[in-house]
Amino acid sequence: MNMAGNRNKEIGSNFDVETIREDFPILSRTINGKKLIYVDNAATTQKPTSVIKRVSDYYEQENANIHRGVHSLSEEATEAFEAAREGVRKFLNADSVQEIIFTSGTTEAINLVAQSYARSKLKVGDEILISALEHHSNIVPWQMVCEQTGAQLKVGPINDDGEILMEQFASFITSNTKIIAIGHVSNALGTINDIKHIIGLGHAVNAVVLVDGAQASIHEHIDVTQIDCDFYAFSGHKALGPTGIGVLYGKAELLDEMPPWQGGGDMIKTVSFEKTEYNVLPYKFEAGTPNIAGGIGLGAALSYFSNLNLQAVMSHEKALLNLATERALAIPGLSIVGNASNKASVISFNIEGVHPQDLGTLLDHQGIAIRTGHHCAMPVMRRLGVSGTARVSFAFYNTLDEIKSIFNAIEKIIPMLRG
Ligand code: ALA
Repeated sequence: MNMAGNRNKEIGSNFDVETIREDFPILSRTINGKKLIYVDNAATTQKPTSVIKRVSDYYEQENANIHRGVHSLSEEATEAFEAAREGVRKFLNADSVQEIIFTSGTTEAINLVAQSYARSKLKVGDEILISALEHHSNIVPWQMVCEQTGAQLKVGPINDDGEILMEQFASFITSNTKIIAIGHVSNALGTINDIKHIIGLGHAVNAVVLVDGAQASIHEHIDVTQIDCDFYAFSGHKALGPTGIGVLYGKAELLDEMPPWQGGGDMIKTVSFEKTEYNVLPYKFEAGTPNIAGGIGLGAALSYFSNLNLQAVMSHEKALLNLATERALAIPGLSIVGNASNKASVISFNIEGVHPQDLGTLLDHQGIAIRTGHHCAMPVMRRLGVSGTARVSFAFYNTLDEIKSIFNAIEKIIPMLRG
């Protein structure tokens, strides 16, 4: 297996990125005749060989349905899937595997909490609090459950730098607040929120707090026990794993009292036409055959990532962000959208006289993959007075040389687009 283990040179400045890049086959491909520079990691991350191989090994050697068969293959697949669940538990530092529910991704995890926890609990007069920074996935499920229950959605404001205005946010938290749903890291701007503080504010009024960790998983330290959140959601594909798999962590006592969301196979103990008895946690929330290969692949992804030194990863990404910010600020007419003092590996920007989409297209001709548009966060774009941005988002396998190439290319493209 192609593990990162001993390649990690520990200290940030010595982070051995070139060796790590060898673990990601796609990074040596060319696009439009140029070496790929992949900086759309907030949309999805690339996958190391160990993950790709684990998924294909599963299909080649272990493919069977789980939790059902008495045959050996089914037992092997079940063991592998449940070992992956244990890997997720360890990664999040949760107390028990009962608290780890496999979903199709962050979006489904948040919808699960909205439709199971919130829908069964909320009534007229209750409030759900989010921030103005949120991704659509952490807005729309709450709007839907507000329509269903008569509860009200409140939105905590942000400043022009894209930071939550904490005093005002706190003033929105009252005894009516039943749920706070907050992103750990903003996908559009990179703002890192002080989630531990927000969780404390929520618990002071007995609100439950859900953290949308989609953009944090391989960029920030995550410890659900230490931050004491009630729910934490993240996606496999943004954490080096396959698409179509994600995780909802929930405190066992909350999950226990929540009704199932979807009905079907695996989430039951017994079924008769008169009455169905539901399965125990976590299976109560996993109706139907799960994404077995996805779960196993995610286990391999978290195992790969856990073999890296997180401090080294974080300081490498900080160096990438610092250089990108420095180069961006040196470009006349470029404005960075989102200037939070605590930012993760995202830089969003606009350039006077240049449409982000045209910039994205011309960068693609150079083999550089960025994302442009509203980044599934239209309200934050509106709040900051832009319809969209060009967004460069890094992962630990990006290099300082790539950042230089990106900004050299941008400097060349600007006069072409300004005509
Ligand atoms: N939410 C993903 C992004 O930020 C798709 O690009």
